[in-house]
Amino acid sequence: MSDPSFDLAGLQTELSGASPRAILKAAFARFENIAISFSGAEDVALVDLASRLKPGVRVFTLDTGRLYPETYRFIETVRERYDIRLEVLCPDAVALSRLVDEKGLFSFYRDGHHECCGIRKVEPLKRRLATLDAWITGQRRDQNPTRAEVREVELDSSFSSPEKPLYKFNPLAGWSSSQVWNYLSAGEVPTNELHLKGYVSIGCEPCTRPVLPHQHEREGRWWWEEAAEKECGLHAGNLENGG
Ligand code: ADX
Ligand code: SF4
Repeated sequence: MSDPSFDLAGLQTELSGASPRAILKAAFARFENIAISFSGAEDVALVDLASRLKPGVRVFTLDTGRLYPETYRFIETVRERYDIRLEVLCPDAVALSRLVDEKGLFSFYRDGHHECCGIRKVEPLKRRLATLDAWITGQRRDQNPTRAEVREVELDSSFSSPEKPLYKFNPLAGWSSSQVWNYLSAGEVPTNELHLKGYVSIGCEPCTRPVLPHQHEREGRWWWEEAAEKECGLHAGNLENGG
């Protein structure tokens, strides 16, 4: 259970600018009922760090059904390599069939990605988060202008209710992409094969493409939409926070 005397502002001050390891340590010290949300990309750094601090740590991934074969393979590599409890979460079959029956398999190019992401990612996430007191994500401030204000720890404004607060830890918030990659290389951490093929930020196959040198990583995601739209609902609170 979450501690009713939990001092969020105090912890935010303490963790501001702290290392990912220190943030994870603080998260595990305060919350037993906590899990990592792993996308199958460079956020493997979180899994690597966390499994050293808390063997058997819970990790979940949202299987949208549209991930790359490389990502599925990578998820299994991570499962085998680390001492973790890895859950693969699926969308609701009825809601998904209705969407596909009505609009086909590529409605996001026409109608925007929110409806499809809502069914394939956000609803399964919501179901899982309802059972947790806190979750851990790989969001970074340098990933997107919408993420510029992401804190190391925050009250999740999208998935909390007055009866049940949900806390969100973002241990990589202050790291740049290069810091993450230095960590992965130095520790010989396994990575998604797609990174060798020019992909930086990786999501679903129809909504992700490689970026050119010096292009921002977010330009490889939902490229047909405006930058401010590029949150899929997992981190919708970033838009409310002025991003
Ligand atoms: S997204 O919202 O635009 O797709 P992004 O790919 O930048 O997110 O990843 C940021 C963080 O969101 C990841 O480190 C992870 O914590 C979470 N996340 C994104 N996609 C998934 C997924 N398919 N399964 C689990 N967590 C995810
Ligand atoms: Fe659907 Fe694309 Fe969102 Fe994946 S990223 S859930 S395919 S809209």
